[in-house]
Amino acid sequence: MTLGPYVPPYPVRHPRVLSLWEMIRLARRNYLAVWPEVAFGRDVIFRRLLFLDVVICNSPGTVAQAFVEQHEAFQRKSPPHRRALEPLLGDGLFVSDGALWRERRRVVAPVTHAARLPDLAPAITEAAAECAAAWARQPAGRPLDVLAETGRLTAEIICRAIFGRALGRDAAATVVAAFAEYQRLVDQTDLLALLRVPGWVPRPVGRRTRAAAGRIHAVVDRLIADILEGGAGEASLIRAMAEAEMPGTGAPMDRRAFRNEAIVLFMAGHETTANVLAWALFILSQDKPSAARLRAELDAVLAGRPATLDDLPGLPFCRAVVEETMRLYPPVPFLSRQAIASGRIANRPVRKGAVVLVSPWLLHRRPQLWDQPDAFVPDRFMPGAPRPSRHAYIPFSVGPRVCTGVQLGLAEAVICLATLMQAVELDLAPGAQVMPVARLTLRPGDALPMLVAPRAPAAAAYPSPVASPI
Ligand code: HEM
Repeated sequence: MTLGPYVPPYPVRHPRVLSLWEMIRLARRNYLAVWPEVAFGRDVIFRRLLFLDVVICNSPGTVAQAFVEQHEAFQRKSPPHRRALEPLLGDGLFVSDGALWRERRRVVAPVTHAARLPDLAPAITEAAAECAAAWARQPAGRPLDVLAETGRLTAEIICRAIFGRALGRDAAATVVAAFAEYQRLVDQTDLLALLRVPGWVPRPVGRRTRAAAGRIHAVVDRLIADILEGGAGEASLIRAMAEAEMPGTGAPMDRRAFRNEAIVLFMAGHETTANVLAWALFILSQDKPSAARLRAELDAVLAGRPATLDDLPGLPFCRAVVEETMRLYPPVPFLSRQAIASGRIANRPVRKGAVVLVSPWLLHRRPQLWDQPDAFVPDRFMPGAPRPSRHAYIPFSVGPRVCTGVQLGLAEAVICLATLMQAVELDLAPGAQVMPVARLTLRPGDALPMLVAPRAPAAAAYPSPVASPI
C-alpha cells in the first residue's frame, strides 16, 4: 500500500451555509471556521448580511476584476479591517487609500524593493544562524514555543535589515507578545456595520488593545529615535526613508507619518514571515519524507554552513516547501476592501459601500484549481511544474496593492528555513494540538510547542552562544 501525501489540519467544513448569527459566533474565534464546503468551489458569492452587501471573489477571473481591473473602485480596505489596524498602524500605507496611499507607497516601496536584497540578506543569514545555534542548545525534552521563536527571529531580521541595528531578545519578545495579544483582542466582526451604523461613528477600542499597540509603539519609537539622533552618515534604510522627499512637495515625510510607516514595515515585514516559518516547521515535523528530501538538498548545497542569498538558486525544494506552505496557510488569509464607487463583478453590479473580499484561504484550496487541494505537495512548485496563474496563487495579494516585500519575504523564509532545518530536528511536543486560527493573520493557534534536538554535524558550523541575541 502506498501512502498519499500528508494532509495538514484544517477546521471542519460545514455541509450547509450557516446563518448570519452562527457565522458571527464562530468568526469571533476563528474566521476560518465559518466556511461551508460549497464555498471553496464557487467563482463568486454575493451575500447580504443584514444591511451590508458582501461579495466574495474566488476565481482567478473575479480576483483580477476586483483587485486589478477595478482597483480604483475597490482599493480601500474594508471598515472592519481599517478599524482593527488603525490603533496600531495609524494612517500607514497598509490601511490608507487614494492620494495618501499613492504618496506613501512611492516612498516606502523602494525601501523593501528586490534591488535591495543583496544589502539586506546578510542580516537574514546572520540572525538565522544565531537562532539555529540557540535552538541546537535547547535542553532535550523541554518544549520550545516555535511560533514565538520564529516571531522573535523575524522581528530581529526586520530590525537589522530595515532599521540597521540589532533589536535584542527582550525587545523582540515584547513586540511578539504584544502583537499576539493585539490579535486576540481585536474584533473585525463589525456588528455595528451590519446594523447600518455609519463608518464615521467611533467604535470602542478596548483599553487592552490600545495598551498592546502602545507596547509595540514604544519599541519602534525607541528605534527611530536611536537612528535619527544617531548622527549623520548612518546608512540605515529607515534613515533613507526619513530623508526622502515626498512626491509633489519635495519636503521630508513628517515625523508622525514616518513613524506610522516604520510600524507598517515592522509589523507587515515580520509577522507574516514568522507564520510561514512556523507552519513549514510544523508540517515538516509531520511529513518525514518531505523533511528528509529537504535535508538531502540542504546537506548537498550548504554542507553545514548557514544559507545565503547566493544559495537560493540551488535550493529549489526548500523554496517549493515555502510556496506550498503559503498555499495551504496563507499568512494573510482574507483581503477585504470597501467599494468607494460602484463596479461590476461577474457581470453583476456591486454597489458603492459593499465589502469585496478575496480570500487566499478559499482560493488556494479551490478544487477546480488544485489537485488534492488540502494535501501538502511541494512538487507543485518545483521547476518544470506548470506555474499557477498569478490570480490563483496570491499569498502576497495581487494588483497595485501587492505586498512591497514579496522578494524580501520569500528570500527570508527560504534562508531561515534552510538554516534551521539543517541545524536541528523538530518534533511536535507530546499532547500539543495544532489547528489554524485566523484573526488578522493565520497562525497555528496561540503557541506551537516543539521538541528540538541538534542535528550533527551541521550544528557545529554555527556561531557560538556568546554572540547570540536570539
Ligand atoms: C512571507 C512574507 C509575506 C507575506 C505572505 C506578505 C503578504 C502581504 C499581503 C497579502 C499584503 C496585502 C494585504 C492586503 O491587500 O490586504 C501585504 C502588504 C504589504 N506588505 Fe507584505 N507580506 C510578506 C512580507 C513582507 C515584508 C518582508 C515586508 C517589508 C519589510 C512587507 C511589507 C508590506 C507592505 C508595506 C504592505 C502594504 C502594501 C500596500 O498596501 O500598498 N511584507 N503583504
